[in-house]
Amino acid sequence: MKIFHQPKELQEYALNCKRSGKRIALVPTMGFLHAGHASLIDIARERGDEVIVSIFVNPTQFAPTEDLDKYPRDFENDCKLCEAHGATAVFAPQPEDMYASDRSIWVDETVLSKVLCGKSRPIHFRGVLTVVSKLFNLTLPDVAVFGKKDAQQAIIIKRMVRDLDFPVEIVLGDLIRDTDNVAMSSRNRYLTEDERVRARSISQSVFAAEAKLKSEGVKAVSEVIDDAVKRISNAGGVVDYVEVRDADNLEEPTSNSKELLFAVAAVFGTTRLIDNCFVKL
Ligand code: PAF
Repeated sequence: MKIFHQPKELQEYALNCKRSGKRIALVPTMGFLHAGHASLIDIARERGDEVIVSIFVNPTQFAPTEDLDKYPRDFENDCKLCEAHGATAVFAPQPEDMYASDRSIWVDETVLSKVLCGKSRPIHFRGVLTVVSKLFNLTLPDVAVFGKKDAQQAIIIKRMVRDLDFPVEIVLGDLIRDTDNVAMSSRNRYLTEDERVRARSISQSVFAAEAKLKSEGVKAVSEVIDDAVKRISNAGGVVDYVEVRDADNLEEPTSNSKELLFAVAAVFGTTRLIDNCFVKL
């Protein structure tokens, strides 16, 4: 497995792969990899001859008040996991090699990024879209794999690919849960034992909402939201949002919606967790 730190060296490698007719699959990550990421690399392995995993804690998607400095990192372990799952290259740049100090171009989205996580993290998706665009230009992927765990991110990235004509197929991997059903996340390591137990209320509310929305559809929306808010608040969590949206355009669902996204963000201790489910109607 090759390891690249310099963007231009990675781009040269990707160009050579393309010239020799190889299909490139990209898995963008911020590292501290877990079974959720491993499942995305497995999907990439099935779809590409070259599997490039990027490991980059992207500073531009963190607000100054957020956890950029304490975001967990374990590069050695990440490389082991990538190799064990068949990645052919890891790209781990330094921020100063990704961003010129006088940079002035952003990729921004103006509608889908204003709801759900975008309300409390107003600059987040601009940072995500900018770095993902850069990663697409550096790795020239045929396929890029993202997790459904970051549902809003995945929907916005699909919109960017459509609107800016990136020649890449976006594939989504399922949200992976730990044995206690808490959604896998690098940020789970911030939780104390007690917070972790109480955080189960999030996945419990997701399961309850999933069952109810499957059987009753859009008319159950306010009931599932109230139920989730109660469960999470009773467990001591501070709810950022609990919402049901049309999974296609993130608008309020209507009787014409074909798929719903039930999405939750809540804080336990100092850790903000997200979880969700997609419900086909
Ligand atoms: O989902 C993530 O880990 C990040 O937002 C991504 C897509 C790697 C961009 O930094």
